[in-house]
Amino acid sequence: MMNVDIQDLNGWKDFLLVYKFAMDEVNTKLKILNEEFRFSHNYNPIEHLKSRLKTPASIVQKLKRKNLEVSLESARKHIHDVAGIRIICSFTTDIYKILDILCKQSDIYMVEVKDYIKNPKPNGYRSLHLIVEIPVFLANRTEHVKVEIQIRTIAMDFWASLEHKIFYKFQREIPKELTDQLRESAALVHQLDKQMLAINEEIQQFKINDGI
Ligand code: GTP
Ligand code: MG
Repeated sequence: MMNVDIQDLNGWKDFLLVYKFAMDEVNTKLKILNEEFRFSHNYNPIEHLKSRLKTPASIVQKLKRKNLEVSLESARKHIHDVAGIRIICSFTTDIYKILDILCKQSDIYMVEVKDYIKNPKPNGYRSLHLIVEIPVFLANRTEHVKVEIQIRTIAMDFWASLEHKIFYKFQREIPKELTDQLRESAALVHQLDKQMLAINEEIQQFKINDGI
């Protein structure tokens, strides 16, 4: 980038910092939730957590792709995944447990819930997508900041990662043969999730000593 205005750079820095704070807050909430579960139920609803901030280049690219005005104000209004958190769980039941707990937290405003588990995308994509808004208390103001949270099982994540890789390899135009294979794999993933859950429920009656 040539001739980047220093004012612009500072604008982006301030813009992203608030999203980083919001992301940190939600990450802390999730870590507390997981630790509490481990302490009181000897069980982790969260297998692992990933988070990322969108880069300015990627925000600008998304605004252009959607034919929206390229400005910080426009990004704040239209781009809801500047701060993104992905929660990976073992079982589908964990996903809804986390949703339920987050819904009950008084400082979280649930902007949107998109359930691609009950209603998968035509390509087979499954995941629960939330847009939450959380207050960030700064020195002289409070900002209400959006964070995108994607919650999926390990198996759904495995599928989505491969599909994502293929999507970019073929510049968003995946050949029919591959889309068919991906849809078939998505069905297998769904079957696997159901089976693993059934086994897990079956073993609940036994006391397990897993030694770790
Ligand atoms: P944008 O995708 O953000 O433009 O808005 P949207 O309203 O379509 O959001 P949606 O909730 O459908 O998707 C948001 C995010 O979910 C994407 O940025 C991806 O990270 C993920 N996602 C959605 N659909 C797919 C999919 O078909 N495959 C994969 N691998 N990821 C997906
Ligand atoms: Mg999309």
